[in-house]
Formats: sequence, C-alpha cells, structure tokens
Amino acid sequence: MERLDKIISSRTALSRKEAKGFISGGKVSVNGAVIKSSEYKVSENDEILLDGKKISGKEHLYIVLNKPEGYVSATEDQEQKTVLELVPPELSRKGLFPAGRLDKDTTGLMIITDDGEFAHDILAPRKHVSKSYAVTIDLPVTEEMKRGFENGVELIDGVCKPALLEITGERTATVTLSEGRYHQIKRMFGCFGAKVTKLHRLSVGGFHLPEDLSPGKCREITPGELELIKQTKTAETR
Ligand code: URA
Repeated sequence: MERLDKIISSRTALSRKEAKGFISGGKVSVNGAVIKSSEYKVSENDEILLDGKKISGKEHLYIVLNKPEGYVSATEDQEQKTVLELVPPELSRKGLFPAGRLDKDTTGLMIITDDGEFAHDILAPRKHVSKSYAVTIDLPVTEEMKRGFENGVELIDGVCKPALLEITGERTATVTLSEGRYHQIKRMFGCFGAKVTKLHRLSVGGFHLPEDLSPGKCREITPGELELIKQTKTAETR
C-alpha cells in the first residue's frame, strides 16, 4: 500500500506537490470514489482516475505515436517541438523517451517508453529488429537500387547491412532495414543520386502502425502488440 500522492507522482509527469493539488481539488478518484486526502492508501490494483482519465499502474509504459512532421525525436529541445509534447497527461510519466530517432520530417510509427532495456533491445543492430519504411523519391526507383540495397550500400561510416527494397510504384518503395544509422535511408538513396521526398515508418519488428491512429495521436501499446515486437527479435536472432 502506498500514499495516493506518491503513487500518482510515480506514475505520471506530476511532482508530489502537483499531485497533492489535483487530489485536494477533487480531481482524483479511486475505484469510482473521489478522494481528497493525499494520505489515502492505495494498492497496485486500485483504479485511479486523474481528471477522469485512467492512469497506468504498470511498471513500464510503452506508447505508440503516429509521428507527424515537424517534431524532433528528443526529450527536450530549446527551440523545436519534441515528440514527447504529443503525449497526453494521462499517458505522461517521468523518464519517458523516444526509442529510436526519426528525422524531423519523417512521419509514422514511433515508440515512446520508460524502459531502457526494451529500447536497447529494439535498437541494437545485433538484435536485428527490422524497421520498414514507405519511401518516395524524386526519381524512378530502379532494379539497380534494389540490387544495391540488397548487397549493402557503402556509406561514409561503412557498408550497410543488406536491406530489402520492394518497388511499390514508379517513385515509391518499401525499404526494410535492420539497423538505424543517422539519415540512413536518405543517404542510401543519395548514393544513387536520388533525393527522398517522403519517409514514413510502417513497422518495427512484427508491429505495424495501427491504421486508426491519426497523425499526432498516441496510445498505450497492448501486451499482444508488445509481444509482436519482441517475437520478431527472438525469431531473427536465432
Ligand atoms: N532513415 C532516414 O534517413 N531518416 C529517418 O528518419 C529514418 C530512416
């Protein structure tokens, strides 16, 4: 059993003082009853609502965001908007960070978590968790590009691991990588004289961006979806 203010503070982005303010202001309920005492004792399984929204009682949070253009993949930035600003208060929590980077102008599937070990597992190149992207370029996509990607494009920081390029249209393709270097896809197409005009991440491991998640929106990843990400990891490291 923990004090209500303490448990709210540990599961949200609120400080202890702010949590007390919400409680005394009548904005917190436990199992359906409004509780105005910060000292009220709650257990792990009690349902706590903050401003009518349920706060997660889980040890770690895993959030999927459909990243819109114009946001940087960072926890803080002096000048630019960060992906963390898109996380609503009821899903917000201390220690959240984006698991992997997408460029400011890249859109699509982004995972935000407070679990460092999980993030490491999906990002470490030797774990081979694949990431797929829908790409549009300014030139026709060619068989030469496809072969080049499969053989390993040579960039200034070394040869890339083989990547899959599926031609989906004259200037569009789906590219699947098992590593994530800085501006990797843009630089890979750059080797063929092409410029990426649109980049959208479709999936991480076996987990695809949910179709009903509009740009700028996020939600908690379900345990089943989390398994999809993890399953791919074990299948591919075998
Ligand atoms: N490759 C890029 O060039 N940019 C991204 O955001 C992701 C992969």
